[in-house]
Amino acid sequence: MDLDLTMDNDVRKRCIESKKAAVLSETKAPFNIVATNSQWSSMCGYFPEEALGCSPKDLLQGELTDSNKAKRFAEQLTADGHARTTLVNYSKFGRAFVHTISSELVMDTKNGASYFLTESEEAKDSALVEAMYKRQSERAAAWRRLQLECDEFLRPFHLMLYAALLFFCFVLYLPSQHGGTPTETHEVFTSMDSVGEYIGFHLNPGMGGFYP
Ligand SMILES: Cc1cc2nc3c(=O)[nH]c(=O)nc-3n(C[C@H](O)[C@H](O)[C@H](O)COP(=O)(O)O)c2cc1C
Repeated sequence: MDLDLTMDNDVRKRCIESKKAAVLSETKAPFNIVATNSQWSSMCGYFPEEALGCSPKDLLQGELTDSNKAKRFAEQLTADGHARTTLVNYSKFGRAFVHTISSELVMDTKNGASYFLTESEEAKDSALVEAMYKRQSERAAAWRRLQLECDEFLRPFHLMLYAALLFFCFVLYLPSQHGGTPTETHEVFTSMDSVGEYIGFHLNPGMGGFYP
């Protein structure tokens, strides 16, 4: 990565002083970022020190990004020295946004090094923005449906769990009524048969049991 971009370097100045969100990248894949301006940081959520050395792909792409379109953009830029496209990208905090990026090959007049200068404008009301919001709400609805289906599927298991809990609470409660302590339950009930015997003993006075 080129770290020799001093503050008075002219291509860096162009990037920083751009009125739009701007980023300067290397010209070889993965097109690592060498400078950004404050508008780009506000839009994407990354401080310059977080973005330097990373590729736009790693920082900005996500689920709704059309990766083929982004690839074609990079190929056209490499072949022609300029390209423009509109993409869905994501900020550091996960905000999806649509922006139109225009890149061109620029050259540092001092050392002759080349870079890609990319200027970006966020689109607020394009068809792609509409499509992005529609897709997001469809995904949210599908996720909600899945949650409801899972709840429906798990409900009988919940009921069985509650019934088992109630049963064991009841079993722990009986010895304490008999004058014992809950810890003694382990000694009393070693099998389901002994639970049955115990309950029979309590409910049937004829067998020598008693009513609590
Ligand atoms: C100068 C430059 C700027 C780029 N800016 C973005 C960008 O802002 N958002 C994006 O999704 N992809 C952007 N890309 C495209 C990706 O970085 C990457 O090149 C593309 O997704 C193809 O990656 P792949 O060859 O690994 O599939 C940019 C590419 C270049 C060359």
